[in-house]
Amino acid sequence: MESLEYLDIVVRGWMHDARNKILAAFNKDLDVWTKSGRNDLVTNIDKEIEKIYSKNIRLLFPEANIIGEESFTQGDLNMNGMTWFIDPIDGTMNFVKQHCHFASMLAIYENGKGVRGYIYDVVRDKLYWGGPDVGVFCNNEKMKDPSNTVLRDGLIGIGAPYLIHNFCNLQAVALASSGTRMYGSAGIQIIHVIEGKCVGYVSYLRPWDFAAGRVLAETLGLSMKKIDGTPLNMLVSSDVLVATKNAQKDIAKLTKKS
Ligand code: IPD
Ligand code: CA
Ligand code: CA
Repeated sequence: MESLEYLDIVVRGWMHDARNKILAAFNKDLDVWTKSGRNDLVTNIDKEIEKIYSKNIRLLFPEANIIGEESFTQGDLNMNGMTWFIDPIDGTMNFVKQHCHFASMLAIYENGKGVRGYIYDVVRDKLYWGGPDVGVFCNNEKMKDPSNTVLRDGLIGIGAPYLIHNFCNLQAVALASSGTRMYGSAGIQIIHVIEGKCVGYVSYLRPWDFAAGRVLAETLGLSMKKIDGTPLNMLVSSDVLVATKNAQKDIAKLTKKS
């Protein structure tokens, strides 16, 4: 692999270029299509950014696996060697309707082990990036591990369908916390947890929604697992809970199998 230090400079450059394209799109008419349903959107910008990231990755790493949201086809997936995850715009609904609260995300895994996560809060111009060998940075500033706050003293992010349908008894978790927050972007909600602004976030997520966040969260000493405490499979969509270790223990006591 290229040196990771060099790669960080290169990848951060790709993401800054993507930011310029995304911000420029605010002044133009977007092409918007639905995917699995009327609340699942994709735009010409999501497709364009994913194509650019993939092309850049292929030029440097022709052999790498690429798992990108907009080009994903279910097939013979594996995590042998290098795997990149791409979510060109996470929170496309917010991108279309609010012009904020969305992120662009990339992650690198080597033989299944998280090496780098990059989550770019495009509007705030804050790029969260790093991995186990260097720690986590917000732009150029090294982040500290968030404090190990218990559930009752912190805010919890919960995906709306999970709260509405009381998946795994999550309404009890919401009631036991300081309050519930929902932003419609896994990337933005994971940023809140790594910054210590929320004690946890739980939602049904796809691999590209949680790949980058997992590297950053685990590097900062947070727990990132399924609600029942079993490990995540990076090739499978599932419920995902990222939380401080104390909040994870509190949540385990309140949740039930659904
Ligand atoms: C979605 C957002 C949302 C989460 C969905 C994701 P997308 O990503 O992260 O918060 O609840 O599960 O699919 O489709 O906007 O990239
Ligand atoms: Ca997306
Ligand atoms: Ca996403």
